[in-house]
Amino acid sequence: MLTVRAPATSANLGSGFDVFGVALERPADVVRVSKADETTIEVTGAGSQYIPEDPEKNTVGAVADALDAPAHIEIDKGIRPASGLGSSAASAAGAAVGLNRLYDRGHTREKLVPIAAKGEAVVSGDAHDDNVAPSIMGGFTIATDDGVTQVDASIPLVACLPDIVVSTRDARRVIPEQASVEQLVETVGDAAMLTTGMHRDDPELVGEGMYDSVVTPARAELIDGYEAVRTAALDAGATGVTISGAGPTVIAACHERNQRAIGSAMLETFAHNDVDAQVYQTRIGAGATVF
Ligand code: HSE
Repeated sequence: MLTVRAPATSANLGSGFDVFGVALERPADVVRVSKADETTIEVTGAGSQYIPEDPEKNTVGAVADALDAPAHIEIDKGIRPASGLGSSAASAAGAAVGLNRLYDRGHTREKLVPIAAKGEAVVSGDAHDDNVAPSIMGGFTIATDDGVTQVDASIPLVACLPDIVVSTRDARRVIPEQASVEQLVETVGDAAMLTTGMHRDDPELVGEGMYDSVVTPARAELIDGYEAVRTAALDAGATGVTISGAGPTVIAACHERNQRAIGSAMLETFAHNDVDAQVYQTRIGAGATVF
């Protein structure tokens, strides 16, 4: 048997819609795999009551198929589904890394990204690499049709998860079909600034680049209190704030010294809007780890 800890992730980061992603030090899913004649799945932990154990419907079933690696797969969810923290992607990433090792398939981490994305597609309806890439490779990742580029970074982050459910399908339905040239120019500038900030491990540059005027404003409508929470986090010292993945988690980049104050400000502001929430003081961290 092998045990893999697969981290939560935050995709998009504002300017990098469907391209940028980061691995978070916490929370994480723990995936245990052992060889079997056919694939069976057992799910426990956060939100497990909403996750099907049928291999045809669970994200890890498609991964086991793609690797021709039947197994008993136990998933201990540390990441609630529909959180915007790459919950299904982490399970898929953990299964891909674990089964690749268990069956000695010899795929590189980069090669495992599209395999894990097939599992993602089972639940989200579309294969997005932007969450599975950082969960497998760690750090900051740029996932395009040409493959994945990875940068080690260690920016402090605060992720605030409100007690609201936003499905990826709903969050994709509200995306505007068109953007202006002005928005395109602005987004390119922000994405370049963010990427440079990751290379320099500079929270100020990363925060400035976390802006997006196309997708994020449309999705903010699905999160009660989003604008107030964003403003409160910025007032408490965040260098940038945006929606994590498809939401509803709100994610802030910052200096470590401000993490606690930002977390408290976000929680209090959601509470003022009658929304319960929980906060993770975290940072960009490693990819899936085999024990
Ligand atoms: N980039 C995706 C989105 C992440 O924001 O919809 C969820 O898979």
